[in-house]
Amino acid sequence: MSSQIDHLLSESRRFPPSAAFAEQAVGGNALYERAAADREGFWAEQARELHWHTPFTQVLDWTNPPFAEWFADGELNVAYNCLDRHVEAGNGDRIALRWEGEPGDQRNVTYAELTDEVKRLANVLTDLGVERGDRVALYLPMIPEAITSMLAIARIGAVHSVVFGGFSADSLRSRIDDAGAKIVITADGGWRKGKVSPLKPAVDQALADRNGSGIQETVEHVIVVKRGENDVEWTDERDLWWHDVVPQASTEHEAQAFPAETPLFILYTSGTTGKPKGILHTSGGYLTQAAFTNRVVHDVHPETDVYWCTADIGWVTGHTYVTYGPLANGATQLLYEGTPDTPHPGRWWELIEKHGVTVFYTAPTAIRSFMKIGRDVPQGFDLSSLRLLGSVGEPINPEAWVWYREIIGGDETPIVDTWWQTETGAIMISALPGVTETKPGSAQVPIPGVSIAVVDDNGDPVGNGSGGLLVVTEPWPSMLRGIWGDPDRYRETYWEKFADKGYYFAGDGARLDEDGDVWLLGRVDDVMNVSGHRLSTAEIESALVGHEGVAEAAVVGASDETTGQAVVAFVIIKSRYLKQKPVDGLGDELRRWVGEQIGPIARPRDVYIVGELPKTRSGKIMRRLLRDVAEGREVGDTTTLADTAVMSVISAQVK
Ligand code: PRX
Repeated sequence: MSSQIDHLLSESRRFPPSAAFAEQAVGGNALYERAAADREGFWAEQARELHWHTPFTQVLDWTNPPFAEWFADGELNVAYNCLDRHVEAGNGDRIALRWEGEPGDQRNVTYAELTDEVKRLANVLTDLGVERGDRVALYLPMIPEAITSMLAIARIGAVHSVVFGGFSADSLRSRIDDAGAKIVITADGGWRKGKVSPLKPAVDQALADRNGSGIQETVEHVIVVKRGENDVEWTDERDLWWHDVVPQASTEHEAQAFPAETPLFILYTSGTTGKPKGILHTSGGYLTQAAFTNRVVHDVHPETDVYWCTADIGWVTGHTYVTYGPLANGATQLLYEGTPDTPHPGRWWELIEKHGVTVFYTAPTAIRSFMKIGRDVPQGFDLSSLRLLGSVGEPINPEAWVWYREIIGGDETPIVDTWWQTETGAIMISALPGVTETKPGSAQVPIPGVSIAVVDDNGDPVGNGSGGLLVVTEPWPSMLRGIWGDPDRYRETYWEKFADKGYYFAGDGARLDEDGDVWLLGRVDDVMNVSGHRLSTAEIESALVGHEGVAEAAVVGASDETTGQAVVAFVIIKSRYLKQKPVDGLGDELRRWVGEQIGPIARPRDVYIVGELPKTRSGKIMRRLLRDVAEGREVGDTTTLADTAVMSVISAQVK
């Protein structure tokens, strides 16, 4: 099958930055020029924005591809860079975290306080025998202790593996085992949707007696933060309350220097098949690109901004743009524990008004769910403090982009649509908000210092106006350094396809428009082949949500006798629209609509109107399950769904 992906939608709206925004922006055109002239020299300059205990003399070592080393002879301490150096520069009183719990309790944590707390926990961990290179698993809600834990582990040269608090005991166990974690840090529970959702019981279950399992238990201690009022079971020789050990520990702790390639964290991400991959990131290169992109893409001005990235620390976005990027830059950020709609659907907008949030970074799935509820909810709050919006995680369809700008951004704020992956560690493709004339729906251009291409199956560039496979053609500082314990899988998954060219294959389809701007078309595994045309699920979904009645859409290809595959759409209708119009005939109307918007080839064979879509915890639609339904098969493994009941409801609706 050819890798050419046919492109059918067009979008002509353009939004240049205002003169006022451009003037104050951190990142300007000069960055592109500098990076184009000397890519490695450019990254060395960005790396020197950090504090190096021992300055590096080498930049990139790519003599053993695909295993890169960046700044390898330099030494630094990641936590020192995120904490002590701001305190030493006289900014200890600046608030690092403006935290708000779901029930409304609040804590402001200054850089000086966070530094002390990290030093205490670093001492506790060292006393418990955690050494450089040891792994510590975190299973925590979004509370300041989560950030403290990540930084304390980094401070002593150990490696964290954060497991999202919504994952089950089984998922936690397999991640703990794969990494061989020595300590687990958890909480009794965390507030979600108006009640304390327990965490410690899942840890207990994950560590429960495994006689006969053949797996050696590596966990020696569990440190437990008291967040709720939950009764927890206790294993005396193993479990420790955070409040019994951390407050009493000493705040004397000197940050030691570690080589730049010291592992910083493992983060598990689901592969298309098989067990989750433990993506490994290291210190110097990762922190360089995390801090740089947060400065120039999120345009963070640490003295004045209140920055808010809504991601949970269980995802890479929470690692790079909650913990490492903003703290390396000395920014003030909002951290919120709970769900967006508790206790009322305007909670996020209330938080923005109350804390004066200026820069806001969230996911398209959240934006679309707010569109579904209606604009009057955000319009009930004063959002005028916002000056920049960002999007991450999946393609943002032009309608959602424009809604985001108009309703949340007061028709004024630039929007940066940022493409990257757990594997890339930091933003790779995005507008610079003070430079780029933005286009709704397009992630647009690689950031300065990153080199990408859209190629065909042979690795040849497809050229402007065509679609193909997205590759990164040169190593970048925050690139993954491997898959934990599985170098062969690392090579096979990302580097084998274009081994002769040395390209990193991202697994995403993309197209270049006439200006050479990048449009992401979704995972290549999700591409459909209808009558010999490769069609992108993202484009048809985008057309569907462009219809006034549609809140959300998911499209899959189902096998079809005549066309090879046929387009099958699952749509959620806006509640407001349902009140006005009968559902009858809507399926036909939507089929016609897609035909008009894109072309007859893309017209869905079937349109199913459903109440929910199957999504993972991070909001990604699991098309594989919808394909099962569309092809009349029994529905496959649903364990990674946020709500496992969704699929039986959909199957019933379709029948
Ligand atoms: O398919 C792309 C999509 O999300 C994938 C990476 O997912 P994950 O590792 O969970 O990281 C998400 C947060 C960085 C990519 O391969 N993706 C991410 N951002 C975008 C996107 N697709 C289109 N546009 C984006 N801005």
